[in-house]
Amino acid sequence: MATYDSIGATYADTRRPDPRIAARIHQALGDATTVINVGAGTGSYEPPRTVVAVEPSAVMIEQRPAGSARALEASAESIPLADDSADAVMALLTVHHWNDLEAGIGELRRIARRRIVILTFDHDISRRFWLLDEYLPEAAALDGTQAVPMDRLVTLLGGARIEAVPVPHDCADGFLAAFWRRPEAYLDPRVRAGISLFAKTGEEVVRPGLTRLSHDLSSGRWHRRHADLLDREALDAGYRLVVADLQHQGDPAA
Ligand SMILES: C[S@@+](CC[C@H](N)C(=O)[O-])C[C@H]1O[C@@H](n2cnc3c(N)ncnc32)[C@H](O)[C@@H]1O
Repeated sequence: MATYDSIGATYADTRRPDPRIAARIHQALGDATTVINVGAGTGSYEPPRTVVAVEPSAVMIEQRPAGSARALEASAESIPLADDSADAVMALLTVHHWNDLEAGIGELRRIARRRIVILTFDHDISRRFWLLDEYLPEAAALDGTQAVPMDRLVTLLGGARIEAVPVPHDCADGFLAAFWRRPEAYLDPRVRAGISLFAKTGEEVVRPGLTRLSHDLSSGRWHRRHADLLDREALDAGYRLVVADLQHQGDPAA
């Protein structure tokens, strides 16, 4: 059973695509006329030019909106599609979940004709996010073991450019750092259910940190400590777009 079959049942409730992040992703896809979405989940950020989605969890596939591109129940490591199947392949907030990163990236390079767009996080930056740094050390440690080092990703892609994706203060997509200026949200079990790091760390383990956060919010300590965040519009919490342009061996430009 895929991990998200057990942790993804309410994903679509809190993980709606954020329009500003969508614009960045769609810009990174450039003029590709066909796109494959790998680790597609419920279909967030899929542009209309998406021809097929690849996703191992049936529970996630069930939550895809009517009219979405057809979904193949498969993992990145072994994609049942022909070489050069689409102009571009995107993989969003998923590479840190893959069992075999090298095999998965190899598959993206095989099925993409021209471009690969990956949204991931740089742990060297994300580990400084106040929630992990001050309240959830065990989750931070787990995040570190799951994280894909940026230099490894770039090497496996055969070169790529990296763009920072700041998180808006009212981000619609409830991923880990989405609530950086809305700290009360982390006390809501519904919000936590949409963030895999909470499920993987375990409720028992995160409870002391969340209790401390609750006290710090009631006492005003959190607001005093993070006064600098309160009038900011966006935060660099380590999210990164990694964009690779492929040159196939047969290409004249290669
Ligand atoms: C955080 S969700 C992101 C979903 C979607 N891309 C989005 O941005 O909302 C991570 C997704 O990666 C999928 N996933 C986990 N392991 C995978 C693998 N080996 N190959 C492809 N997808 C995988 C999960 O099932 C889940 O749907």
